Amino acid sequence: MSALQKLTGSASTVAVVCNQWGDTGKGKFVDVLAEWADVIARGTGGANAGHTIHVGDKKHVFHLLPSGILYDHEGKWNIVGGGTALDPRVVIEELAILESEKISYKNLLIAQNAKLVLPQHIVLDRVRESAAKKGFDSPEHPAAAVRIGTTGRGIGPVYADYYARLGLCTNDLLNIEIFKKKLERNLREKLLVLRQYDPAVIKEVMHHPHLQNGRFWNEQNIFDVEAILETYKEYGKRLGDMIADTEEFMHKARAQGRKILLEGAQGNLLSVDIGTYPYVTSSDCSMRGLVQGVGLRERDVDLCLGIVRGFYMTRVGEGPFPTELGGTKSAEWCGKGEVTKVVESKEFPEASVNDKDPFLQGVGMRKAGNEYGATTGRPRRTGWLDIPLLRYSMEHSGPEAIFTKLDVLDECEEIKICTKYDYQGPEYRWGKTLFHPGMTLDKAVPDPELLGHCVPIYESFPGWKESISGIREYKAMPAKLKTLVSFVEKAAGLRVRALSVGPDREQTIVRE
Ligand code: IMP
Repeated sequence: MSALQKLTGSASTVAVVCNQWGDTGKGKFVDVLAEWADVIARGTGGANAGHTIHVGDKKHVFHLLPSGILYDHEGKWNIVGGGTALDPRVVIEELAILESEKISYKNLLIAQNAKLVLPQHIVLDRVRESAAKKGFDSPEHPAAAVRIGTTGRGIGPVYADYYARLGLCTNDLLNIEIFKKKLERNLREKLLVLRQYDPAVIKEVMHHPHLQNGRFWNEQNIFDVEAILETYKEYGKRLGDMIADTEEFMHKARAQGRKILLEGAQGNLLSVDIGTYPYVTSSDCSMRGLVQGVGLRERDVDLCLGIVRGFYMTRVGEGPFPTELGGTKSAEWCGKGEVTKVVESKEFPEASVNDKDPFLQGVGMRKAGNEYGATTGRPRRTGWLDIPLLRYSMEHSGPEAIFTKLDVLDECEEIKICTKYDYQGPEYRWGKTLFHPGMTLDKAVPDPELLGHCVPIYESFPGWKESISGIREYKAMPAKLKTLVSFVEKAAGLRVRALSVGPDREQTIVRE
């Protein structure tokens, strides 16, 4: 039996989601499983995601296209589902890259009901972040929101418009007169809101490369409606043939017994519904949201594989992160805005996974795992694996797990795993439970008011201290690593079905 058959068993619909805050290496497993699938579909998120796939010495990063696109030439279908936030500019750019590399995309379909990202969404997202950065309590910024550290891709505003029944969808690109009417209505409302913000910031944002360096800027009305119309008309022409009723396609594919792979984006803890709200993205990136976003039902999923990073975690943007190495110092450093991989390597050339200083150890982990955003280049905050959060997350994705990036900690002498929290905040009511200082928690509660005051209780393990990237069978893994895997399986109640020991497709172990 092949490794892929072992992993998928008798399933005909498999979902791959992340049990953490994203960036856990879903793209690689979607790519591995795409070999098995007939249809690969995305259902949530938008250009905020960055899925990296390594094939040989080539690296591919997709923001909106499903990671299965590299299998298009084999006749596999790739679907961008209706739950996604679709920025046509980004899709067209990705298609151009595929063309330049002679990768086909003839079986790519875009849902007619995907949520359409418009310039005003990107502007509002960025202007709000900028105002919030200056202090959301400040009376000078009455319209400012909580600082989330978004990717600036317009995600929050586009989903907000959808739920406010003000949004446009990809189908509107096919009917330009209707598009115009809806665009003008939407802009009227956006102008009311945008007038509350600093005009200088708006002007600066309107000249951002993602807004075509000022192409949509109008001195009086902020937006040049004609320029938006012209641009989106062109987008419609370019993408028109790919826009289809993908829900109908998915229902048929399922009825015909085709193998379907659902590709998650971000992670459970960033889901607007089950994540650490408000420090989340604006789609439900759990399995439930993914299934809904492609038009299937939860019970259609035969196997849900939840990705967990091997013994460390990362988070990008704001929000509580109990096991963060270096605590607030790390959060501030990573949130500064100007820290890049180059800056960090210059500033902390010696930092390693074995540093005694937790902040530097976090930097060392980031360097070892190359934990810099695929979309924004931002440094990802790093910390130890958090079992209370994993227990919570697994309630939404089930016990079947995949461990990724295990090779990152090859050099690590001591590995810590957080098994419980000591709550040290003020008394706080969460439904019927009253939390008080000194309480021990086995499972996390996603409320930042609580999570922000949880102090991790760790268990320590010796590292395996050898290179595992060449290993292809679980039984050949170092005994110390296997002890850790068994410990996490028992502590969190999960089953590790596969492990990743490097970025390449081949660097994958499927367990017997
Ligand atoms: P947004 O999705 O751009 O609105 O950002 C909201 C929050 O989600 C921010 O903290 C982002 O850093 C985070 N986020 C969004 N997409 C990703 C991702 O693909 N990986 C990790 N974090 C993400």
